[in-house]
Amino acid sequence: MVSNFAHKPVMMAEVLDALKPRTGGRYADGTLGGAGHAAAILAASSPAGWLSGCDRDGVAIEAARERLAEFAGRFEIRQGNYADFAEWIPKASCDGVLLDLGVSSPQLDVAERGFSFMQDAKLDMRMDQSQGMTAADLVNGAAAEDLARIFWQYGDERDSRRFARAIEMDRKTRRFETTKQLADLIERLSPRAGRKTHPATKVFQALRIAVNDEMGSLERGLVAALTILKPGGRLAVITFHSLEDGITKRWMRDRARDYVFDGEVDIPELRRPRTPEVKLVNRKAIVPGDAELADNPRSRSAQLRVMEKI
Ligand SMILES: C[S@@+](CC[C@H](N)C(=O)[O-])C[C@H]1O[C@@H](n2cnc3c(N)ncnc32)[C@H](O)[C@@H]1O
Repeated sequence: MVSNFAHKPVMMAEVLDALKPRTGGRYADGTLGGAGHAAAILAASSPAGWLSGCDRDGVAIEAARERLAEFAGRFEIRQGNYADFAEWIPKASCDGVLLDLGVSSPQLDVAERGFSFMQDAKLDMRMDQSQGMTAADLVNGAAAEDLARIFWQYGDERDSRRFARAIEMDRKTRRFETTKQLADLIERLSPRAGRKTHPATKVFQALRIAVNDEMGSLERGLVAALTILKPGGRLAVITFHSLEDGITKRWMRDRARDYVFDGEVDIPELRRPRTPEVKLVNRKAIVPGDAELADNPRSRSAQLRVMEKI
């Protein structure tokens, strides 16, 4: 029984407006979580809409199965990475695909998952607990320069090198096993001094992204989403930090262009024409309205980008 899986879906009205579910339509949700969005898509596409969904987290899958029971016979859900969508969802079959990235509230709130510096637990952070590497494996095993790169690249942590060197020193005499050991070390190095956020916030975010290879999944997942969409079908992606949003924005813009260029710089004389694969539904990211911001603090950093396959 997992019915206490409490996750408030963000930008629900905006997602429905983007995907426009209709009866007979086929939809895919790559990040089911508590299945709030999935249930709304199934309700809006009654009586004959279909949803294929997945989540890497077995607990989320159980919660989603329970949440979607009322739509029995209209969905198939599996535990797995959305990056592998094209392995089980037929090509060009979907009218809409949703990716609502990052972690769910229950993943952060349940201490044993080891995502949070707020509660002491094993330093785990795996979304899929059958997958090998934990955050503890990374913290105890990675070279200091790799840890520094992770803290910098995935956490924007200005003290990345200093933190990584301190971890390297510390682990000569002990293994990092718990969230508290790591959070305490960071707090000692960088006292809170009136700051609103805990000094370990960025380090924890960075480790979570690395442990779950979230950016690699996103890059592969965008390609998979385009593969399973029909022409005219739409992809909606909700991101929660600039790295995710940057990858999504660039990927959509690149495929919406009617030309390609080699290298990093777009020099007009060196452009080669090509047929765009997608069109952008909104030029700018959609953000939550004031009522949602007041009601759900987690929505603060959310941005929604929508494209349509041509
Ligand atoms: C923000 S929550 C989704 C909430 C959901 N839309 C709802 O209405 O409850 C993100 C979920 O995506 C899952 N997730 C993150 N990356 C994933 C990936 N690459 N493949 C599948 N699931 C993933 C997480 O386990 C988490 O349950």
